[in-house]
Amino acid sequence: MYPWTDRSGRFSALKSAVFAGLFLPLLWLIWRWRTGDLGPLPIDEATLESGRWTVRMIVITLAITPLQRIFGWGRLALVRRQVGLAAMGYALLHLSLYVADQKFDLGRVASEIALRLYLTIGFAAVFGLVVLGVTSTNAAVRYLGRWWKPLHRVAYAIAGLGILHFFMQSKIDATQAALMMGFFILVMLYRVPNAARLRSVWTLAGIAIMAAFLTAGLEATWYGAATGIKPLAVLQANLLFPGVIRPAWVVLGTGLAVALLWFGQRTWAAQKRQLQAAA
Ligand code: HEM
Repeated sequence: MYPWTDRSGRFSALKSAVFAGLFLPLLWLIWRWRTGDLGPLPIDEATLESGRWTVRMIVITLAITPLQRIFGWGRLALVRRQVGLAAMGYALLHLSLYVADQKFDLGRVASEIALRLYLTIGFAAVFGLVVLGVTSTNAAVRYLGRWWKPLHRVAYAIAGLGILHFFMQSKIDATQAALMMGFFILVMLYRVPNAARLRSVWTLAGIAIMAAFLTAGLEATWYGAATGIKPLAVLQANLLFPGVIRPAWVVLGTGLAVALLWFGQRTWAAQKRQLQAAA
């Protein structure tokens, strides 16, 4: 199976488009590098950018199964493996850029990874991504049999480690890390109800609200524990909406958009059935 064909070997427009799309962040990074848009410390900036894309790709990979269950888009399963592999690719690029930044002094890289907790956590996540990557081939799926699924659940822990690494190196402003955490919470909550319960506008809206509250609460807890900023002040910042849009609001908006989209899809399908019955 090629990145542009489906399981029966036929050309798949969806797979081809997603495959091409996965290279866009890399091409954009190269273009910014060549035009000097990465600022005075291009390796540093490219390290940050590739790290952000690794987290985004992991969250997108984890969103595929819930979206498939909510909207009944079975074909999405075709692209899950390639998005997961892209996450591994961006993680390896991120690590390579870090090694380049350390002037390829591998002894120093190893000791930094061993001594700095946020790098140890990042390393564990990269290691996990590589294990999932090499065991994602059809041959590995067959070889691992019933062990494949439990092994690939490690992806949830990898996402958690990646987001923790993101928070730990964010210093004073953890907004982007909190946003990724919020999306991760949302996609994890979609996995809790069974498919029948999930296909309800109230369940979907409830999950959106729950994810938003958890995001706001955990974000405030992080600021309180890591920066000394009062958690209550961070929680209150959420009330400055719409002047200030904190991650919890973005998570709420995304979750409610999914609920509305599902409702629209169901209404449209019901009308189509009625029209067909009348014809
Ligand atoms: C051995 C593995 C890793 C190493 C050595 C590493 C190293 C680093 C370093 C040094 C930074 C800060 C760069 C700077 O301040 O210039 C950073 C930031 C970051 N890393 Fe990693 N990392 C690793 C793995 C990962 C993984 C697996 C992910 C994602 C799942 C990740 C996501 C990020 C993100 C999102 C940032 C911050 C971007 C931002 O602040 O906007 N890293 N990493």
